[in-house]
Formats: sequence, structure tokens, C-alpha cells
Amino acid sequence: MKHTKIVDVIKTDPVLQEIYVKGWVRAFRSNRFIALNDGSTINNLQCVVDFENTPEETLKQINVGAAVAIKGTLKESEGQGQKVEIEVQDIEILGKADPEEVKKTILSPKRHSLEKLREQAHLRVRTNTFSAIMRVRSKLSFAVHQYFQQNGFNYVNTPIITGSDAEGAGEMFKVTNMSLTNPAKNEDGSINFKEDFFGKETNLTVSGQLEAETYALGLGQVYTFGPTFRAENSNTSRHLAEFWMIEPEVAFCDLDGNMDLAEDFIKYVLNYILENCDDDLAFLENRLIQEDKSKPEADRAPMALRDKLKFITENNFKRVSYTEAIDILRNSKPNKKKKFNYVIEEWGADLQSEHERFLVEKHFKCPVILFDYPANIKAFYMRLNEDGKTVRAMDVLFPGIGEMVGGSQREERLDVLQAKMKELGIDEEELWWYLDTRKFGTCVHSGFGLGFERLVLFATGMGNIRDVIPYPRSPQNADF
Ligand code: 4AD
Ligand code: MG
Repeated sequence: MKHTKIVDVIKTDPVLQEIYVKGWVRAFRSNRFIALNDGSTINNLQCVVDFENTPEETLKQINVGAAVAIKGTLKESEGQGQKVEIEVQDIEILGKADPEEVKKTILSPKRHSLEKLREQAHLRVRTNTFSAIMRVRSKLSFAVHQYFQQNGFNYVNTPIITGSDAEGAGEMFKVTNMSLTNPAKNEDGSINFKEDFFGKETNLTVSGQLEAETYALGLGQVYTFGPTFRAENSNTSRHLAEFWMIEPEVAFCDLDGNMDLAEDFIKYVLNYILENCDDDLAFLENRLIQEDKSKPEADRAPMALRDKLKFITENNFKRVSYTEAIDILRNSKPNKKKKFNYVIEEWGADLQSEHERFLVEKHFKCPVILFDYPANIKAFYMRLNEDGKTVRAMDVLFPGIGEMVGGSQREERLDVLQAKMKELGIDEEELWWYLDTRKFGTCVHSGFGLGFERLVLFATGMGNIRDVIPYPRSPQNADF
């Protein structure tokens, strides 16, 4: 007999039908009421045990954390908090959980800090908070594919192991199978990568963009959705060493089209979860409301989670040039009172997250797309403007998050691109294949990268990026 998922059981009319369910015990009260959860929904199914007719040995094994299979009759619930419940006819213990052992874990039914849950990341998906986050994450990734597939984009898989540094930032993890203590050496003592597995120096990718560009200039519209790796020593609540990035790339599309795409895409996926994850979002929203009660008024979220998501889907993002943003920041209170850690003195300054957050959270109070950044604080592949000093770059900034998206119109002119690479000391021979795209049918094209975990962070209202990916990787941490 096949078991029914709890998400479907609780939608069923209670017409005294036979039901077979499997799940994990979340609670067992008064030797009678099991709260059963199978991960299909945030809601537990109440299963009422007839303890007088259940063997003592079985009752003893109905413990928090145990896996059980239950056959019974679906009935209208007499208790409060649920519409239906199961009157248990037969219960089988599938996997025991020793209460003494459970007590030492986060499965024990009491409040555990998020830090504690991180230490037991293999068990945290059995909690309400994490199962809700992970279901929302899953739905969001489905929505990502749905959006692009419906709009005629092709999904491309760019290499994880690569010889090129797409961002030119040098924050890469090396890939080798040479001995660390005794690598092959050249006569001058340097490492001889010709003897290495790939016959050259290789790294984990920091971005699939350059390869995606070559595919956009053949398929027209493409997107990647895969893992990326950054060896930056940023121990923040917004950075991971391994994160998933979504990178669309579009031929015959300029920066305005790119901004339209980013805004439309983000609104679509957030709207998708509003329509398809209401139970989980309601749970996460309530969690935040409870959490806020212990905070001073000024630190509380101005909007409930679902209202915040709706606000994003229903309002235009504000588009502001870097130059305008610098003027706003220079004249801002925190700048004049030297409250920023990095006071903005002049045009050309790189924006820190404190500045981005001021613009989004204090000044505009909505997502902001900043564009036309100074060339020398951005990557080599961005298209130079006619002014000769700014590039067609854009960052989408979100409240509470900062940079959600980074993208640009690409430099399609071979001579300008070559000059820029020369200026930055980027080897043309390494990127010969990339330069070929500018030799054969080059065209205006654009794309962006969105950090998937930052999107999940925003969508769930969580505060730390390590809590929206199953097994986070960060400096000094690669457990599990
Ligand atoms: O701004 P970034 O570095 O841009 C690129 O990699 C471009 N090649 C993308 C493109 O145009 N195709 O990264 C893009 C986004 C950021 O806006 C941020 O959301 C996310 O990736 N991101 C990170 N997310 C988590 N942890 C990190 N360490 C991240 N670094 C970037
Ligand atoms: Mg960026």
C-alpha cells in the first residue's frame, strides 16, 4: 500500500476514509497525540493513538525523532489547530530514536539558536524553520527555470573547472592533483603545471559569464544556474565561499534591456513563491514577528514578510546613475557627520555596503538599480561609455541585502576590449576564444549574475546566508 503525503492528507475531506502515512514524530503528548511531519508541508498531522489497545513496547518507541508508518481513519478533528486528524489503527516503528540521544541534539523539542542548528546542519532540516526555508528555496529554483524557459532562454552548463578568471579578481580556489609537498618543478624552482592533470593551471569557476557570452552569441538567449566559488576572506552574513549563481546572457540587448530583464525576472520569481509557498511564508513571517518582539521598536522590520515581497513585485525599481548616487551620498547626513566608515569624498569612490544600504533603505526605500559606474572599479569586459570614464555596468541593490545582482552591457568592440585587457595585464592568449567572439559577428550583448542565496535570504527574511543553503562553505568551515 502506497502512503499519502501529509500535504495531501490535510487537504482531503474527512469522510472516514482509510489513510496510510509515514513521517517523523515531532511531538507525542499524553501517550495519545502524535504530531507527525513528513517534510511535504510545514503542517503536522495529528494522529490519535488508542493507547489502551497499543502494545506498551510500541508506545515506548513513539519518541520525538522516530520514523513511523501509520494506518488509520481520517476524521474531522475535535481539537483546535487542525481540521483533520487520524484515528490510528496500526502503527509501525520504522526507525527508532533514543530519547536520551535525542536530548543531546537539536531534535529535542525546545528553542535552539540558529548557531546551534548550524552545528547540526544534517538534522536542522527536521525543524520547522529549515524545512520551510528549503521548500521555498526549491520553489524559487523551479521558478528561475520556468521564467527563462517561458521566455525562450536556453539553459547552458558552463564548466566548473576552468583556466580563466572571469572577474579578474583573483579570488580563486586552485584545482590540482599534484602532490602538495612534492609538485613537479621547473628549472627555476617554480611549479611546472604542464605536469598537472590538465597540463595547465586551473581553478574552480568564479562565474560562468565568459563561456555564457560565447553561447549567447550563437543561441541568442542563454542562462546558467550553477555553483560558483570565491576564495575571498569575507566572513559576513552575505558571503559564501560556494554559492549558486544565475547568469542570463542576451545577444542584441543593451544595458536598458538588461535592467528590464533583471527587474522582470526578480518580480516573477518572488511572485511565484507568493502564489505557491503561502504556508511556509506565513510560518517564516510569524517567526520574524515573534523575533522582532524582543527588539527595540526602531530595529523591527517595517513590513511583514509577505507584504515586503508584494511591495517588490508591485513597485518599480528606482534607476539611478552612479554619478547621481555619489551626489546623494556626499550630501547625506551620515556622510556629513562622518558616520560612514568610508566617508564619500569624491567621484570614483567604490561604494561600500553601508552606502548601498543607505541609498536603498534610507533614501529611496525601494530596490535601486545603479548604473554607469567608473570604469576603474569594474571588470574588464564592461562596455566603455562615450565619456571614456564610465562603463555600462549595473548593480541591483536590495533592502537588507545590498547587492543582489551585478551585470553589464559587454564590450563588443575588439580594439577597445584588447586595449582594456592590455591596461590590466590580462593575457590575450589565455582568452583567445573569448576575443574570437568579437572577431566573428560581434554584437551588442548584455547579461548579469544573481546570487541565488541572496535571493533566498530576501525571500525568507532570514538574516544569515549560512541559513539558506543546506551546507554552507565559508572561511574555516567545510563541515559535512
Ligand atoms: O557581482 P558579481 O561578482 O558578478 C559576476 O560574477 C558577473 N560575472 C556576473 C555576470 O555579469 N554574469 O557576482 C554576481 C552576484 C552578486 O551580485 C551577488 O548577488 C552574488 O553574485 N555574489 C555572492 N553571493 C554569495 N556569496 C558571495 N561570496 C558572492 N559573491 C557574489
Ligand atoms: Mg558585483
